[in-house]
Amino acid sequence: MAYTVPKLTDYSAAALEKAARECVGACTGEAAEVRNDAELKAFRDRWMARKNGILTQINDLWLKGAPKEAKREAGIRVNELKARITELVEGAHVAGSGGDSLVAERVDISLPGVRRPIGAEHPVMRTWREIVGVFQKLGYSVAEGPVVETDYYNFEALNFPPNHPARDTQDTLFIAGQQSKPQRERLLLRTHTSPVQIRTMEKMRPPIRIVIPGTVHRNDPPDASHSPMFHQIEGLAVDTNITFGDLKGTLDHAMKALFGSSVKTHFRPSFFPFTEPSAELYVTCFICGGSGKRGADPCRPCKQSGWIEVLGCGMVDPNVFEFVKDNGYDPKKVSGFAFGMGVDRLALLKYGVDDLQYFFQGDVRFLQQFG
Ligand code: DAH
Repeated sequence: MAYTVPKLTDYSAAALEKAARECVGACTGEAAEVRNDAELKAFRDRWMARKNGILTQINDLWLKGAPKEAKREAGIRVNELKARITELVEGAHVAGSGGDSLVAERVDISLPGVRRPIGAEHPVMRTWREIVGVFQKLGYSVAEGPVVETDYYNFEALNFPPNHPARDTQDTLFIAGQQSKPQRERLLLRTHTSPVQIRTMEKMRPPIRIVIPGTVHRNDPPDASHSPMFHQIEGLAVDTNITFGDLKGTLDHAMKALFGSSVKTHFRPSFFPFTEPSAELYVTCFICGGSGKRGADPCRPCKQSGWIEVLGCGMVDPNVFEFVKDNGYDPKKVSGFAFGMGVDRLALLKYGVDDLQYFFQGDVRFLQQFG
């Protein structure tokens, strides 16, 4: 006789056990009787159908009908039983078929797998890695810091006083709802990687030599040469007796390592609040070799000047050291240089890409070219 779900009156452990055993026995027996795909389907429906399948009936008859004090124990038993029945039903197959004709969803592990093509390194990340590598070979370590930063680290400790106009040069994206906090605690998206200079000096005593790669944000609408998100690599060296000569020698070496030994470097005076003196570093255009021309045409990347601006740099302003003085950075005893460069712009120039947006659109056809 086909199995039907009995009503339970006795909810003792022994009675539950017996009822479960009979149920599993019935299911095992029926599974062994399945002769073809139609029977398999009927078997599955009989046991598993949401509406009035045996498992549903067990739920209704055994669980919902259980007296309050037996509910917990009955629940545990019924769950165990459900797991066992599900296992039996899912493992069932047409007798003699070896199990492969009917269980369509079963995985055939002898088939070759789905191959995922190996991706290409993104040109921005490649450039990032190359730049970091040049400085690592000079003995620099890598430091990182948060993208969501406080006003203190992004501005104040870098010698941008509150309300100083130099803040306006960094079109900052502020986090909403910060007005109730003191200004130095207000959160923003860091506009440069320079705040990690301070964060690192707070943690490490001099001498230090670090490079800091990272993501930064500015309120710039996206176009061929701007993006609200981009990447920078910062550098900082602090020790006793570090001079502008060290800065020039280090950066000249780094530019030759990056762009080829024939590039020349050239420094022009500039202004950054956290360095004094400050400079912009130019290298001879590695597209036209410094001639300003490509054949008969003007060289566009260097605007025919033969020079390309690659970074900002300078000697760390003593005012910056004042913020980390207690960690060994007495401005009377130590000196240092810093620099910061845009990775994306260098990647654009290096790979001759004419629109920055290609880097961030995730179009595989573009990225494949770098594979
Ligand atoms: N933080 C500057 C910017 O984003 C770049 C910079 C200039 C970094 C001079 C430096 C530096 O460390 O010394 O515009």
